[in-house]
Amino acid sequence: MLKRILSGSLLLAVGLYACKTKPPVSTTPAVRESQGVYQYVEEIPTRTGTQASAFFSDKKGVVGRNGMVATAHPISSEVGLSILQAGGNAVDAAVAVHFALAVVYPFAGNLGGGGFMVYRDQAGKAYTLDYREKASGRATQNMYLDSAGNVRPSLSILGHLASGVPGTVDGMVEAHKRFGKLTWAQVLQPAVDLAANGFLLTDRDATGLNRIKGDLLKINPDKTYFLRSTTPGDTVTWHKGDRLVQTDLAKTLQRIQTRGRADFYEGETARLLAEEMRRGGGLITEDDLKNYHATWRDPIQATYKNYKIITMPPTSSGGVALVQLMRFTEPYPLRKWGWNADSTVQVMIEAERRVYADRSKFLGDPDFVKIPMAELMSPDYLRTRWTDFSFARATDSKAVRGGTIPGYESLETTHFSIVDKEGNAVSITTTLNGGYGSRVVVGGAGFFMNNEMDDFSVKPGVPNMFGLIGNQANAIAPNKRMLSSMTPTIVEKDGKLFMVVGTPGGSTIITSVYQTILNVIEHGMSMQQAVNALKFHHQWLPDKTIFENGAFSDNTVLKLQERGYILEKLTNTLGRMDCVMVRPDGSYEGASDPRADNTARGW
Ligand code: GLY
Repeated sequence: MLKRILSGSLLLAVGLYACKTKPPVSTTPAVRESQGVYQYVEEIPTRTGTQASAFFSDKKGVVGRNGMVATAHPISSEVGLSILQAGGNAVDAAVAVHFALAVVYPFAGNLGGGGFMVYRDQAGKAYTLDYREKASGRATQNMYLDSAGNVRPSLSILGHLASGVPGTVDGMVEAHKRFGKLTWAQVLQPAVDLAANGFLLTDRDATGLNRIKGDLLKINPDKTYFLRSTTPGDTVTWHKGDRLVQTDLAKTLQRIQTRGRADFYEGETARLLAEEMRRGGGLITEDDLKNYHATWRDPIQATYKNYKIITMPPTSSGGVALVQLMRFTEPYPLRKWGWNADSTVQVMIEAERRVYADRSKFLGDPDFVKIPMAELMSPDYLRTRWTDFSFARATDSKAVRGGTIPGYESLETTHFSIVDKEGNAVSITTTLNGGYGSRVVVGGAGFFMNNEMDDFSVKPGVPNMFGLIGNQANAIAPNKRMLSSMTPTIVEKDGKLFMVVGTPGGSTIITSVYQTILNVIEHGMSMQQAVNALKFHHQWLPDKTIFENGAFSDNTVLKLQERGYILEKLTNTLGRMDCVMVRPDGSYEGASDPRADNTARGW
């Protein structure tokens, strides 16, 4: 019966994606198309010094004329493409991708989490949707403290008390209701099929599930299908190619497909979720679910030269921070200095230092705290923040006024970018917070719950799981949203759609998006090269710059160290970007990060 809902072409497409991935329609051309910022360069530029390349890999972008989908997993990208090819628009594809990620990428894709959407329609009108989780109405400022006022370790990270009220389902319902073209049943169908029929795990999928086995056993007494390998003779360890079938999740998705918001927030799924919370001592109730609503907010729209940055306002800090960074950078000749030349990096680090100090001090849920948005992004204010900048010497972070000490977050979030034939563009970043969230699987419903409560400041001065130290603006309160760093962004050039960008990476999201945008508009890279390019990050405190191996030449390292910068080479990577760029001929370049399973699919 469900299959009858699908159109013929969509049926054909969904039949193909579960077992194999089709090759891209085409790749970037091997020749330079033109000089200047739009050149598409196949060869990898070399630099002086010991590092031969500025790039993590030489992965090529995917080119399509009718639409592009870039996501964290090959199957979800295929789902998005199938929806576009069936006549769906970018929002239809985004909803289908979001639900598909909840099946094939439980690491960060979700029903039990939340996120942010930036949408620009073909006429150029922009919208942003905040479907970030909220604290339960029963949450209190000191809920993670013992009677002596000390933080009870891991309560905001593992188990039932760590979860906020999920926003994803309401967010997708809202987005689809306002902008979708296909039916709700159509866009849900790929996820239903993937959960019911299963899909084949990638190596990364298998490794991720194996890693959390201990927590799953401890927290979920009923066990779950996430613990059952299908390799004959090995029921303990998941392997690449094993089929993961999620029967409870398939039923949940079918209920959502039939009843929409009513099921997740007031129906059977709400009942199962609230029951799971009671069983494990969590706070979320039926009332919390019923009262949850995603919120349309005014997008941040700011100019940088002849570009417009359209990005997410609070509850994410990402948009304000990105605009501050771009405005600090704008007066400097980055292109003349060159990519990651010492002066380029110095200006960017100093901008990051000041921006993260502000983030820590001023930002929180705008429904609860007054944020001086206009002032934070105003050129006059930013000029006052720059008066102590000097090329001769690194600024001392201790001397930069602002809030408290943020730390690093990880890559346990996910981003996707979609553009359709008409030029409607969606940029979505969504998360459970930590990988597989709180590790609580809702009994009978088959999905992971978030551990987003840890993004609040549980106690002033005490770092959260990623080292972030908050303040009153981000203190816990009933029904309040926790501050985020997610930065889904769309860039216009000369009034036309130009780029759709975003990444996971916690506090490093903001600086990865910043670098990726500059790589294209200042350093002439293609979208894929900008994604492949090695990255660095500074966030005020601790006062050091972390960088991917090879991001800085020997000369840049030497010059920065001479000026007092502390540099730390990473053994891991920064960013998992999924982006789309409109090329000068109007076709789309899809760019997916070579650092993981990310995949772009176009047609
Ligand atoms: N949970 C990570 C973020 O929202 O920034």
